[in-house]
Amino acid sequence: MKKLIGPKKVKTAVFISGKGSNLKNLIKFSRFKKYPFSINLIISNNKKAKGLKYSKKYNIEKKIIKYDKKLKTDKMILNFLIKKKIELICLAGFMKILSKNFIKNFKGKIINIHPSLLPKYKGLNTHLRAIKNNDKFSGCTVHHVTSKLDTGKIILQIKVKIDKKDTPETLAKKILKKEHLIYPAAIKKILN
Ligand code: GAR
Repeated sequence: MKKLIGPKKVKTAVFISGKGSNLKNLIKFSRFKKYPFSINLIISNNKKAKGLKYSKKYNIEKKIIKYDKKLKTDKMILNFLIKKKIELICLAGFMKILSKNFIKNFKGKIINIHPSLLPKYKGLNTHLRAIKNNDKFSGCTVHHVTSKLDTGKIILQIKVKIDKKDTPETLAKKILKKEHLIYPAAIKKILN
């Protein structure tokens, strides 16, 4: 892969809690000239998150945060992001809710990917809920983050057909593939 990080890329932090396939994918796209962002920081609330391995692999700084006192923790992250001159935050499987104050300070510059067709199925277990309701379609959404869970303005959304044979696991896999298409495209969309 050619490294094409130019001087004008928007400095981005990716927040994760788990596997980090979206993080890995965003790193890949950030290296293409057409995509105007660079991944400069990985933040995780979970020191065992598998996705943290991409810090070493791609030589990106990581920070693991302990979430005992939410407001204090959020203030600490905020200061750290400012110090690192981070301009955009991408939540990618980050399973903590950020405080109002934190979001206010990064207004319009925090986005999230969610595995459903929002406003349907905010929160957890989205695939199971879509299947149980006999929905014909599910999908994924990239949206701006506000202080209310999974509610901000939608940037991009992709539909995925639910087959009769689908289980929450097979549906999750199909949707994750589409997540890897829309997340970089959504960032490009808001930055261009
Ligand atoms: C993704 O499916 C993402 O949409 C979901 O967690 C998964 C993370 O996968 N996010 C949420 O459920 C947020 N509410 P990844 O760690 O492989 O990117």
